[in-house]
Amino acid sequence: MPITTCIFDAYGTLFDVAAAARQAAGEPGQERLAEIWPKLAEDWRQKQLQYTWLRAITGEYTPFWEVTKDGLDWAMERAGLDDPELRERLLALYWELAPYREVPMMLARLKAAGKTCAILSNGSPEMLDGAVDSAGIGEYLDSVLSVADVGIFKPSARVYDMVGARFGVPKEEVLFVSSNGWDAAGAAGYGFTTAWVNRAGDPVDRLPARPHHILTDLTTIPELAR
Ligand code: LAC
Repeated sequence: MPITTCIFDAYGTLFDVAAAARQAAGEPGQERLAEIWPKLAEDWRQKQLQYTWLRAITGEYTPFWEVTKDGLDWAMERAGLDDPELRERLLALYWELAPYREVPMMLARLKAAGKTCAILSNGSPEMLDGAVDSAGIGEYLDSVLSVADVGIFKPSARVYDMVGARFGVPKEEVLFVSSNGWDAAGAAGYGFTTAWVNRAGDPVDRLPARPHHILTDLTTIPELAR
């Protein structure tokens, strides 16, 4: 079946989650952050994700914005950073994360080819709106779907179900794109064709399903969706 619908994960896939710590590290007075920002960004991201999985397992859903703050608090404490102003700055930057360079052109090509394009993200609707606006990619998106509507995080099938519910397309017509190996695996197991954007050259996750395509960036998504 031809691909009619391209669904994108948001954080780490369209938007660079390391951009907040990287940018803050370059600001005046942030010499200590400048030394450790890659580790802080990594700890922040890993804790944020772990909290989504744990809350999905225990049924204690809370908006992604809350787990984003919780993850940052853990990461800052581990780094020995007790700095409320820096915390506020990092959180503010998370609402305007830079998109990866190839994102606008890739989405424009998909739209020119007549594909339906949407985000399906753990993100809270307001956070996603902020990131989409600041990246200037709203014109290419038919929808921005947030797990807030189902009250559980990926990789729950209830989240992937949102695509069929919104667009009425069979799974076989969906190309799901994520930089998170576990998300690509979850979506592949669900029945979507999946592309894993593996910028870091990481090993494939040992999970029940494997992604169909492994890419180094998003440039060739329009070819995959042809
Ligand atoms: C998202 C997280 C997984 O955007 O990055 O859903």
